[in-house]
Amino acid sequence: MIKEPKTLETERLVIRRVYSTDITLFEATSDPEVTKYEPWQPHENVTQLMEYINQVFDRYEEGHITEWTIEDAESGEPMGMINIHNVNPVHKHGELGFWLAKKYWNKGYATEACKAVLYYAFSELSFQRIHSITAANNSSCIRVLDKIGMTYEGTFRNYMYLNCTDRKTLSDVKIYSVLKDEIN
Ligand SMILES: CC(C)(COP(=O)(O)OP(=O)(O)OC[C@H]1O[C@@H](n2cnc3c(N)ncnc32)[C@H](O)[C@@H]1OP(=O)(O)O)[C@@H](O)C(=O)NCCC(=O)NCCS
Repeated sequence: MIKEPKTLETERLVIRRVYSTDITLFEATSDPEVTKYEPWQPHENVTQLMEYINQVFDRYEEGHITEWTIEDAESGEPMGMINIHNVNPVHKHGELGFWLAKKYWNKGYATEACKAVLYYAFSELSFQRIHSITAANNSSCIRVLDKIGMTYEGTFRNYMYLNCTDRKTLSDVKIYSVLKDEIN
């Protein structure tokens, strides 16, 4: 039986399982500004987004239940996605990733979604540590990580090929983390 992520509700958001109808996020996943600091390139067609969504469904089947769509609670419109990936159940850690369509930026939505996911991960799942890796020059993401109580741990030099360079140059990234005991 397919396992599903728990739906998380905040003041302005519903953070719920990914659905096929989330292909309406294509406008965002094809936007080079949204993918600027990501290792994946802007989608060229809806099929590429559908392939990604199908991969998420496969992961649900495998019991990986920490991938969600962020939805506007008022309009029901999908705004972006959030996940905990690279999960290590033995050592009880995972990596937080998130993005939003540009029209939703700078309104506190990412901070609100991240806080809800962290609270759930620490209170209802068995995580002891969540970290996040971001391009060293992704100032808005770094600000979000700061606002959700993460601590800067260091810089990994030449760690990933990201869109903010030419994808042929390895980029420096910063790692931030928060521990279960640090979230109340
Ligand atoms: C990173 C991202 C998710 C942030 O989402 P958001 O909903 O705008 O985040 P919030 O509104 O909660 O917080 C953004 C903060 O960054 C600040 N900010 C925005 N642009 C900034 C910049 N160029 N320099 C410094 N701070 C900046 C905002 O002022 C805000 O801080 P404040 O609350 O102190 O004013 C969004 O910009 C995004 O989807 N970017 C593309 C994908 C991405 O980079 N994902 C993160 C990968 S780790």
